[in-house]
Amino acid sequence: MNFKLTEEHEMIRQAARDFAQNELLPGVIDRDEKQEFPKEQIKKLGELGFMGMMVDPKYGGAGMDTISYVLAMEELSKVDASTSVVVSVNNSLVCWGIEKFGDEEQKQKYLRPLATGEKIGAFCLSEPEAGSDATSQQTTAIDMGDHYLLNGTKNWITNGSSASTYIVIAQTDVEKGHRGINALIVEKGMPGFEIGLKENKLGIRGSDTHSLMFTDVKVPKENRIGEDGFGFKFAMKTLSGGRIGIAAQALGIASGSYELSLEYSKQRKAFGKPISEHQAIAFKLADMATEIDAARLLCLRSAWLKDQGLNFDKESAMAKLFASETAMKSATEAVQIHGGYGFVKEYHVERFMRDAKITQIYEGTSEIQRVVISRSVIK
Ligand code: CAA
Repeated sequence: MNFKLTEEHEMIRQAARDFAQNELLPGVIDRDEKQEFPKEQIKKLGELGFMGMMVDPKYGGAGMDTISYVLAMEELSKVDASTSVVVSVNNSLVCWGIEKFGDEEQKQKYLRPLATGEKIGAFCLSEPEAGSDATSQQTTAIDMGDHYLLNGTKNWITNGSSASTYIVIAQTDVEKGHRGINALIVEKGMPGFEIGLKENKLGIRGSDTHSLMFTDVKVPKENRIGEDGFGFKFAMKTLSGGRIGIAAQALGIASGSYELSLEYSKQRKAFGKPISEHQAIAFKLADMATEIDAARLLCLRSAWLKDQGLNFDKESAMAKLFASETAMKSATEAVQIHGGYGFVKEYHVERFMRDAKITQIYEGTSEIQRVVISRSVIK
């Protein structure tokens, strides 16, 4: 067993760290305040290969492994989780889903511009009545011979208006239950596809989250991913990989909170010495450092399993569960360590606390991760 990163991994981590410091940090508070999408930053991330990190270079990707993706996600999220969620959804839910399960034509047409960052993708599963209970899809995709007729509403869609390519999960045959669900590639601008109002969110405010409405949208048959009825399994498998990205995002929020707290506590004095020398603060830092390390190891293990072609469903759920709980805890402690300064925007940790919360909710709540893990361990 070797815990040492390769030179290439170190380089990728450094490149992501430099990008976060130079390109994301300067406007991050403003973008959060104004709910402004990081358009320029995403464009540059695309040029650097971060939007299609794991995609084969023959489809315009960077051809890296999932470990590199975890390292990059942690570094970007240490500074700006609004930008990193855009990166994560594009990489693991959209690019990976199409590359792994799509056909050659779909890869040429849709994967290439997504992998280069020229276009952004969105993954549309959640509905007003189907969040955790993902089999209860009300959106319908009726088989009309050469196309599907898509009707319904999707909720909480990350990249809702900034995306151009949407993977939409819909029910074709109710009788068949989850085996009657399909995953369709829908393009922005298809007649009958409307983008609803932008959500005014607690955290990750720089990313755009929308509801989407589909009214008699004609989606060509060739836009279905996989065989008829494969949509639910497609969604589950893709989310399993997506959870590695969100786990790494949570890890970044936790380690960003920790690093700022460490720095601050060494400078801030109270009762005649730096607060880091008071045991009340030192013990908080010790717990944060330990839990963050454990979260990082879980993230890297699930990435390694995925890279080896082994099953990673349980391990990615474990990584996501633990890292997101760690993010919430570390960010809350960071605000506490910063005291009054932690409660104002300039010090970043109040944003980390708001951003951390979503990591316990999206791509499956903490409760859903426990469902996945317990089913696997109890059997
Ligand atoms: N890989 C492959 N197949 C899988 C699978 C996986 N990881 N997990 C389940 N399946 C298969 C099962 O084998 C079963 O197939 P068969 O009947 O043919 O054997 C089928 O799928 C149904 O599985 P379950 O009976 O386990 O389904 P369930 O209704 O009990 O639900 C669940 C399982 C784990 C709770 C699932 O519904 C789930 O993960 N829910 C959470 C959904 C979620 O994560 N939503 C997030 C929205 S997307 C998002 O947040 C993106 C964003 O923008 C940031």
